[in-house]
Amino acid sequence: TPDRQTVETLAAAHATTRGALLPLLHDIQRSLGHVPAAAVPIVAAALNLSRAEVHGVISFYHDFAGSKVDGPRVQLCRAEACQSRGAEATAAALDAAGVAHEPIYCLGLCASGPAALIDGALRADVRSAADLAVTPVLAT
Ligand code: FES
Repeated sequence: TPDRQTVETLAAAHATTRGALLPLLHDIQRSLGHVPAAAVPIVAAALNLSRAEVHGVISFYHDFAGSKVDGPRVQLCRAEACQSRGAEATAAALDAAGVAHEPIYCLGLCASGPAALIDGALRADVRSAADLAVTPVLAT
């Protein structure tokens, strides 16, 4: 995967440096927006550390989120009514804007889709990444 390649490239760049673990984790965080669990064995091997050591440092420093923390959690409705109102195009627009999103199935806003939950707040008519910033329909 591209994420894996990024981690491997960064790990290789840091492999010969002493005290490289934190700088390497910061580089991964900067490149990917998070430090994926899959990075742990790669980082451990590159720096000759145990997985437990790497995992311990990641869990200790809250900056290294195990999932993407840049931007809100976006859950885009991919159920039928929203599909027919253009949810695929919205998904493509979010992908193009580099906005991570995950599918969810029917939020009860079928008539005004594509619907989405943005950090738990319900949004109607989400067409683009810019629409993510508009006022929520209702806060949950
Ligand atoms: Fe998307 Fe119902 S199908 S809200």
